[in-house]
Amino acid sequence: MLSKELLDEFEELKAERDAIVLAHYYVQDDAQDLADFVGDSYFLAQKAAAIDCKTLVFAGVEFMAESAKLLSPNKRVLMPEPSADCPMAHMLRKQTIDEAREKYGDDLAVVCYVNSTNQMKAWSDVCVTSSNAQRIVERMPQHHILFIPDQHLGHYIQEQVPSKHIILNDGFCPTHEAIEVGEVLAVKEEHPDAVVCAHPECAAWVLEHADYIGSTSGIIERCVSGTEKTYVICTVHGVLHEIKKQVAAAGDEGQKQFFFPRTTPICPNMARITGQKVVACLRDMSGEVFVDERYAEGARKALELMLELAK
Ligand code: 13P
Ligand code: SF4
Repeated sequence: MLSKELLDEFEELKAERDAIVLAHYYVQDDAQDLADFVGDSYFLAQKAAAIDCKTLVFAGVEFMAESAKLLSPNKRVLMPEPSADCPMAHMLRKQTIDEAREKYGDDLAVVCYVNSTNQMKAWSDVCVTSSNAQRIVERMPQHHILFIPDQHLGHYIQEQVPSKHIILNDGFCPTHEAIEVGEVLAVKEEHPDAVVCAHPECAAWVLEHADYIGSTSGIIERCVSGTEKTYVICTVHGVLHEIKKQVAAAGDEGQKQFFFPRTTPICPNMARITGQKVVACLRDMSGEVFVDERYAEGARKALELMLELAK
């Protein structure tokens, strides 16, 4: 919990710097509480492109802040914890793209999950997030889709869009891949009526047991609006903060129970983003994001096409 002095200082700094704070659901609760907008990757990218301010503090990992900078190049974008990176964002060899382009020619689209470097985005035709990937893959004119970097999201999208041929890369999210099916089933055994809600970054053998599959926002919405009393959440624990807030606002506090697999899924990078660091970066104007000009134009095009096709 942040002190009253720190909260007052934060408000003053925000006004002085003409700042807006965006936060992903996976960051520490006190950082979420400081945000003007909390959301999933897609919502935050839309906000970054649309809001009007001089300074944008992005409480999230590097690829999220970089996307915000690409979509809003005239703002100063600050990261409260500049070393917070997503390991999956680097899991691709360029050769994988070259070989697929060589093999399938014009009938191939490279579809890039936003959890990726700018360089990867620039090599791609379009970006997607977990909440719009299905829609965008369906709308691509090409039959062959090289889906990078996440194999599990790619595999899930292949199941949803069987008319396309999806070529998988071998990237993965270490936090979601570590979710053990045995631990999910153990909670189900104790609470047989529980609704299993999973993020599509989980492996297929976990998704097989899910009653609902969706992005962080989708999972939150399913838990808040559901009439069921018990839920097993297969994504990063940070979403619980927003779920509890919304459940309380709906007047259902104490009526619902939320469980995670026994080994609580925590993203170590997102967990480093605290409320204190949000205030500190605004105070020092530190952690400014700059994008490598060599990839900026290509990466921006892929992100802008995502915003267009997701409508
Ligand atoms: P969302 O698109 O659901 O916000 O997911 C982002 C992410 O990094 C999941 O691990
Ligand atoms: Fe990356 Fe996984 Fe963390 Fe999301 S949860 S930011 S995919 S490491």
